[in-house]
Amino acid sequence: MLRSAERVVVLTGAGISAESGIPTFRGPGGLWRKYRPEDLATPLAFSRDPGLVWQWYDWRRQRIAQASPNPGHVAIRRIEEMSPRFTLVTQNVDGLHQAAGSQRVIELHGNIWRVRCTLENTLAELRDVPLPEVPPHCQSCGHLLRPDVVWFGEPVPTDALERASRAASRADVMLVVGTSAAVYPAASMPVLTKRADGRLIEVNPDETPLTPVADIRLHGRAGAILPSVVAAMERLPQPPR
Ligand code: OAD
Repeated sequence: MLRSAERVVVLTGAGISAESGIPTFRGPGGLWRKYRPEDLATPLAFSRDPGLVWQWYDWRRQRIAQASPNPGHVAIRRIEEMSPRFTLVTQNVDGLHQAAGSQRVIELHGNIWRVRCTLENTLAELRDVPLPEVPPHCQSCGHLLRPDVVWFGEPVPTDALERASRAASRADVMLVVGTSAAVYPAASMPVLTKRADGRLIEVNPDETPLTPVADIRLHGRAGAILPSVVAAMERLPQPPR
């Protein structure tokens, strides 16, 4: 299916980075089992206690800084190389897809290495781990910086959402990897593909709301399954176009 598809979209969630040692949100050991999102990942939490929110992001940035892409990330880069038209839509903020060499990446929930000035809305990269100052301040105007990520109650960046939705609704095949499909609008991407008569392949060790509508379900870890998908694709001749 993937080998003969013209347009391929891959949608990823926290599960693709689990084997790099980055905790997911909802499963066993998930971040939202230990912490309350409303204390750490909402605009209100940030206005109440920016230092606490930044401490949590500083901790997550330190974990991510120690992580490297795993065979699942690398396999997705290989699928991009083999696909005529390819888009990767990720809910992850860790940047590991780009570190693995993926080129066409749409980040629906932002990036943890980028910061935004709360006064000027300017964006900057801030890679220091740990942060030299918690909470950090804008170098040009001195106002508070916030992580350039999407919090609960905030909209997904319009441009990213439009590009992702367009790719999803044109996809011949969407490969959905490591997401619980619980957060919208990301979870609506596979629906767009199905509605346009595209095929859905799900890679996840657990069931999700998408499982019943998936055309193919690959039950297991991304780091084990995706490399064998790539190996199978490599054995097939390139279809004539
Ligand atoms: P979740 O933590 O909700 O779901 C992770 C999914 O990955 C689960 O379905 C697991 O079964 C699966 N999984 C775990 N290990 C895996 C592995 N090795 N291989 C493949 N799958 C595996 O994470 P997301 O769906 O990404 O948003 O969560 C969506 C959003 O909710 C996040 O982007 C974040 C969170 O709140 C914001 O912060 C805005």
